[in-house]
Amino acid sequence: MAVINKETIDRIFETAQIEEVIGEFVNLKRAGSSYKGLSPFSDERSPSFMVSPAKQIFKDFSSGKGGSVVTFLMEHEQMSYPEALRYLAQKYNIEIEETKSSPELEEAKSHRESLYIVSEWGKKYFKESLLSTDEGRAIGLSYFTERGFSAETVEAFGLGYAPDQFDAMTKAAKEHGYSLDYLIEVGLLKDKGKGIYDGFKGRVMFPIQNLSGRTLGFGGRTLKTEKHIPKYINSPECEIYHKSKIVYGIYQAKKQIVKDDLCYLVEGYTDVISMYQAGIKNVVASSGTALTSDQVRLIGRYTKNITILYDADPAGIKASFRGIDLILAEGLNVKATLLPEGEDPDSFSKSRKIDEIQSYFSEASKDFILFKTQLLAEETAGDPIKKAGLVRNIIESIAIIPDGITRSVYTKECSNLLDVPEKTLISELNKIRLKRQSDQVRKDGLKSKSQASPQHFDEPPPEFFDPEFKAPPTKQVTTSGTFHQERDILRLVLNYGLTVIDVDSLDEDENEIIVKMKLADFVAEEIFEDDLIFHDSLFKKVLDMYLAELKVNPEKDPVTFFTSLEDNTTRELVVDLIADKHVLHKWASQNIEVFTESDKMFRAVRDGLYAFKARKIQDVIGEMKEGLKGIDLNSEDMMAILTEIQGLEEIKRELLEQQGIIIF
Ligand code: UTP
Ligand code: MN
Repeated sequence: MAVINKETIDRIFETAQIEEVIGEFVNLKRAGSSYKGLSPFSDERSPSFMVSPAKQIFKDFSSGKGGSVVTFLMEHEQMSYPEALRYLAQKYNIEIEETKSSPELEEAKSHRESLYIVSEWGKKYFKESLLSTDEGRAIGLSYFTERGFSAETVEAFGLGYAPDQFDAMTKAAKEHGYSLDYLIEVGLLKDKGKGIYDGFKGRVMFPIQNLSGRTLGFGGRTLKTEKHIPKYINSPECEIYHKSKIVYGIYQAKKQIVKDDLCYLVEGYTDVISMYQAGIKNVVASSGTALTSDQVRLIGRYTKNITILYDADPAGIKASFRGIDLILAEGLNVKATLLPEGEDPDSFSKSRKIDEIQSYFSEASKDFILFKTQLLAEETAGDPIKKAGLVRNIIESIAIIPDGITRSVYTKECSNLLDVPEKTLISELNKIRLKRQSDQVRKDGLKSKSQASPQHFDEPPPEFFDPEFKAPPTKQVTTSGTFHQERDILRLVLNYGLTVIDVDSLDEDENEIIVKMKLADFVAEEIFEDDLIFHDSLFKKVLDMYLAELKVNPEKDPVTFFTSLEDNTTRELVVDLIADKHVLHKWASQNIEVFTESDKMFRAVRDGLYAFKARKIQDVIGEMKEGLKGIDLNSEDMMAILTEIQGLEEIKRELLEQQGIIIF
């Protein structure tokens, strides 16, 4: 194992466009000079997730996460640092140069990473068995061909074949030197105490991939027809595979989902693949399990519109209704499309041209609530008791919808469809909502404060770098006397360190002159000259690192170095300070002018430094006064100290008087 060298890492950071990379995972909308979208880290309905192309950072105000494009991939895709770099290198066609790494680093490769590696190997192994062995071609590939899957489709979904022997894969894994424990953990191999054997055999294989295409698990379909053999077997849950959190096909579908602002939901692997091949690429499946909230949220990152495709089997449809209430509860719009008698999405899309499929879908798609109402109304015709149950059932679905206007539209339509007065429906609706609310309050009341329902932004937060915008406060840190001043100086350095400012100075003859220098250099000089050291160790560390980076490479913004740090505390502090670049602590909130011209930056940073110095002096004065307590009132010491305090008070007053606090 080797390590990616520094030059390559720099090239990757220079080339990667954060909005482009994150845009593959989050639906981003332009908002001035930045982008915003729904937080992919929490469940929210109004966007508090921001991406700034200019700074190449993201900030998620609902979870507090933030950082560079690499941080995003690490946080969101659970990639390791090198993995994220490799992902970007591949995306941007950057050749990776490596240096040899130590055995320790090799050792440190995570358990998780090993599970990903063996799963990826499994996918490759099944693929080779399918395409390059006689058995695979004769059995597996000919099955796919019979189903009408083209070579491109097989490739796009990474389909494969597991040889029909009890230990073919076990042997191959041993030959590759893999630790079999990892393969057992992901279910590729089994160990029931009597020796290790293959987990899948004689089956065609469907890899289940995450958003970025990594293999998490597999579904395997038998080609045998004996009744006692299960048709599909699926990988067990493990550290990397959680059934309830992923939908099949999302990797292949996500781009098209965003493009069409619509996602089709079908039952299983073969439905997804056939529709994709027919040209309907925005399609995913919940794969065997009932739909979960996590899955709905996953889709909800890309679109708010889901259309469910049903084959004409009333029992199956009714069984799905509970899952659909989940979609409604997430505030998504759900439509249902009933396929013609005897067809499933697989057969339907196989036998038709794309135009035909699309026009059928657009004509047959019905709003879900109305679809459900109609379907159930037919069944209850002429039976008043059943009809009363139906009304309640429908109203329960409507009551889940978060948006009031949508609810009232449905109530009206259902009143017509069911021939029940609208007033009756509304009063029923309100009863259900009231009851749910009081249940919720009771539940929340039992939880401790920290677990209570998360707060959401009711309104979208303002522009990322909006001067009026006050970001939620950063984590509480033990404050020293100069905490806020240090923070504000650091904020100025991080945001404007490279800006050349006009510094008022004196030449050798005490004439006033203007010296041009970088803001960061000015701060460094001032702080070191007066031997003023930041009290807060994290602030000090960041400032020292910043200045050190700047020394090594004077033209490069050291901020890029911080935003890609692996150390969370440091990185998040820096990102917070960049994201809140207009937010001054309230000590500085009087006499505020807001402007952007760089010539006035000098005043801002000078005032920040003055405030810092004034506060430092205040601390010293405090200490001295404390020291006076044990001293004889008439002693010389007392006089000396008092004189010194007076002098300091004087300097402090001057420093404060000169301040006209400026924000830009
Ligand atoms: P099907 O029974 O139609 O599977 O189920 P199929 O492979 O298309 O088989 P034939 O050729 O029509 O008989 C549709 C989907 O339901 C899921 C699979 O994802 C499958 O693609 N499924 C089905 C399971 O997960 N487990 C099962 O036991 C059956
Ligand atoms: Mn089928």
